[in-house]
Formats: sequence, C-alpha cells, structure tokens
Amino acid sequence: MEYRGQHLLGLEGVPAEELEFLLDTAASFKEISDRDIKKVPTLRGKTVVSLFYEASTRTRASFEIAAKRMSADFISLSSSNSSATKGETLLDTARNLAAMRPDAIILRHSSSGAPHFLAQRVPCAIINAGDGSHEHPTQALLDLLTIRERKRQVGGLTVAIVGDILHSRVARSNLIALRTLGAHVRLVGPPTLVPSEFGRWGEICHDLGQGVRDADVVMMLRIQRERMNGNFFPSLDEYSTYFCLTRAALREAKKDVIILHPGPMNRGIEIASDVADSEAAVILDQVTNGVAVRMAVLYLLVNRSRADVDANTPVEVVHAPPVRQRRRQAAV
Ligand code: CP
Repeated sequence: MEYRGQHLLGLEGVPAEELEFLLDTAASFKEISDRDIKKVPTLRGKTVVSLFYEASTRTRASFEIAAKRMSADFISLSSSNSSATKGETLLDTARNLAAMRPDAIILRHSSSGAPHFLAQRVPCAIINAGDGSHEHPTQALLDLLTIRERKRQVGGLTVAIVGDILHSRVARSNLIALRTLGAHVRLVGPPTLVPSEFGRWGEICHDLGQGVRDADVVMMLRIQRERMNGNFFPSLDEYSTYFCLTRAALREAKKDVIILHPGPMNRGIEIASDVADSEAAVILDQVTNGVAVRMAVLYLLVNRSRADVDANTPVEVVHAPPVRQRRRQAAV
C-alpha cells in the first residue's frame, strides 16, 4: 500500500474506504474556496516545500493555493531555479531542504519511483505530484471527486480512458482507484499505446467509437511525447484521425456522458475544441476540485506532530474523527 498516512506516494493498495475518506475530506474543504476570505488557520506554523523537476501549471499552482488557503508557509522550487542546475543530486537537494525542517515535500520528477526513494531517506512527508509514467495520485483523486459529484458514485460506472495509456501516470493512478471503487474501465487507443498486457487491468479497445460506446465517463489523455523514445504512430495527424474525441465519436457514449481531461490539452489532437468546451466537459471542475483534494492531502499528512514523523508512526486515517468534526476544527 503506497498511502500509509505518512506519505502519499501512489494509490496502489489504498482500500476503497480510505479513498472515500480522502474524497469526503476534500469535499468538506471545497466551501473554503468559495468564501470571501479564503483562508483557515489549520496548517499555521507548518512549512510545505514543492520541488518540481518537470513543468506544471495545475498541480503546482493548486498545491500552492491549497497550502496557502490553510495558512501553511509555502516555498516553491523547480529544477531550473534550484541548485540542480549546478549538478546537485535529487537526494542532496532533498536532504538540504529537509535540514530546514519542512513538514512536507511535494515532488514531481521524470523518474518513476523518485518519491519512494526520498520517502525512505528524508524525515518529512513526501507527496507524489507525478513520477515519470508511474503515478499521479492527487490527479486521480480530483478526477474521482469530479466523477462522484456528477454521477453520485463511482462503482458501476463505465469509464473509458482514451489515448497514451502506456506513458500516462494519470491513467495508471485512475485505473487503480477506479477499479478499487468498482468502476468498469476500458483502455482505448492504438495497440502501440495500449499493449495487450494491459488487458489484465481493464478491457482493451483499439477503436474510439467502440471504446466510448455506452460510457458514463470519457477521460481523454494527451500524447506524452516527452516520454516516448520511438515512433508509436505514423504522425499526429494520423493519430487524431482515429483517436481525437469529436462530437461524432461521442454519439456512441451515453447521453449524459461527462468528459474529463487532466490537462494540458492539445486541442485538435486528442480532443476537438468544441468537445472540450461543451456542456459535457468537466475539465475546469477537475481543476477546481484539485485545490480541495490537495487541501485534504496536506491536512491529513502535514497536520501531524514532529514526533509522529520522527517515530515513523502511521496515521490511522480510517479511525480519524468524522469529517464534519475535522472541518469544524479546520475552520475555527
Ligand atoms: N494534470 C496535470 O498534472 O497538469 P500539470 O502538468 O499542469 O500540473
């Protein structure tokens, strides 16, 4: 299990009741962002560092907004503005940051497993903000929250994940969590990006129309060219001819289908512009929910005593006070 209450490294092995608890906690934090004064003192005196070795708009901004809305001190570093440019290793960078006694480090890195590596070596909470093609747990949590808000529950839904499944950490975290919550998952894309061995994770489909047929949710993914070391399809034009989500393709889905995209979108490649801007698209709701999910994750991981962290004591989040009680505490 990768979420042990101390770090959030991934969603593999996290049981359904803990996922639901994380989502309930996030849902309870949403109203803070609708207030005139968008600030609660919950994490006053805590320090959160974000360390991004890959580009980001949504994840980085929403972690910072989430931390600041909870009154934490927030320091943002990237590979381009840190001493990584002078050759300092990830471990040395993290150890030096840890020596300043932060309560959490949020890490995005191109190497799968980088957050796990730090979690074993650095004495503060590590939060995975996307590691290579492995996992992006907070993205999946915000996707689940968005689906649950629109469809009331996740169990029993048919969810089509379409595109570059092979390289996508978003697909992997979603696949794990959706299956844990009882959704039926279809993996849709060309055989090079949805290889047959993925059949043990979900139903495979190499045709877009069939893949979205009767789907309740369609999740579109960007082609991750930065993670490709070969030619996976002849050209982007050819890819979009077969796998771009258009209004015509969507006719196969259920009438009340919702469309998700983690961003950044490449309009006209994996998703037609009018579909991205349609009523069915909940893409900006995902972004809104990203703040609430990251508030919840910081709250559950950072709001712990230093002694607990030093003693490596896991938080029994499933036995934590009810969400309403926690929210009252948070909102005081
Ligand atoms: N969805 C997502 O991770 O977006 P960013 O790369 O902009 O953070």
